[in-house]
Amino acid sequence: MSNEKHTVKVMRITEVAQGVREIVLKSANPGLLPAFTPGAHVDVFLPNAMARAYSLTNASEPQGATEYVLAIGLASASRGGSRYVHEQLQEGELLEVGTPRNLFPLSDDPAPALLIAGGIGITPLRAMARLRQAQKRPWHLVYAARSRAHAAYASELMAHGDAVEFHFDSEMGGPLAVGQALAGLTPQTHLYCCGPQALMDKVRELAAGHPSSHLHFESFGAQLPASTGPQARGFAVELARQGRVIEVAPDRSLIDCLEDSGVVVPSVCREGICGACECTVLGGEVDHRDSILSDAEKQANQTMMICVSRAKGERLVLDL
Ligand code: FES
Repeated sequence: MSNEKHTVKVMRITEVAQGVREIVLKSANPGLLPAFTPGAHVDVFLPNAMARAYSLTNASEPQGATEYVLAIGLASASRGGSRYVHEQLQEGELLEVGTPRNLFPLSDDPAPALLIAGGIGITPLRAMARLRQAQKRPWHLVYAARSRAHAAYASELMAHGDAVEFHFDSEMGGPLAVGQALAGLTPQTHLYCCGPQALMDKVRELAAGHPSSHLHFESFGAQLPASTGPQARGFAVELARQGRVIEVAPDRSLIDCLEDSGVVVPSVCREGICGACECTVLGGEVDHRDSILSDAEKQANQTMMICVSRAKGERLVLDL
């Protein structure tokens, strides 16, 4: 994984739906930006000292990308990331971005793909739909949004006719009936879902019998179980390479305690959704709280996201 940063220029900012800004970034230096595949995200380092991971919604050539296109919704509980983008970011501004990473890749399996998007979760799924269309492979998108006005890229997607099914809460008297959205699911279908946690939880619940290799989820929100607070327990972390042991208090995250002790691990979202802080686990059982690792990866207990995950027992050993 490359942690290299690239300087980009904000070329264009467009309102593509109510509360959604599309940001087009181009390299500030000659040449292309690093290539990416549908489902990838890029870490954006904002001038207000915040870093956020955003899905890329455009396509890239294998040799490199001419631009990175993001669609960023204004989060009602924004801690400064989307609020900055919506209220302060200007065309012409220079930003630093990381090298794109893909934790939500589109399978190369030609079998049908069912894409379920909730709100701004459309961003990676739009890129997937475009690739499947270009590959002439079967795909179907179910796109749920609060209203027609809130649905980014709705008119573009309407051009695909029956391949796209819209659900607007305001017109249909409530949220998407997930059971109906999954009606066409066959054991061969790859199911991709990106949206609010409640939608993803419902999809997981109703698709529980589906082969796990064909289930793909991407979170964009921070509605993760609290990693600190009264319900959390303290534990010790042994840093195997450094030969040190650090105590993690119930009300602190592991990454905060490491930083207090002068141990810096790269991080971006600090919400368990970007993968930047992944560490190798050498001992102890992890209480995984992230939205990145699959159930099988969590069970394998080989890595953890130290910004949100904790120890199930009294001690963890990390390869640090
Ligand atoms: S910093 Fe993003 S997953 Fe930990």
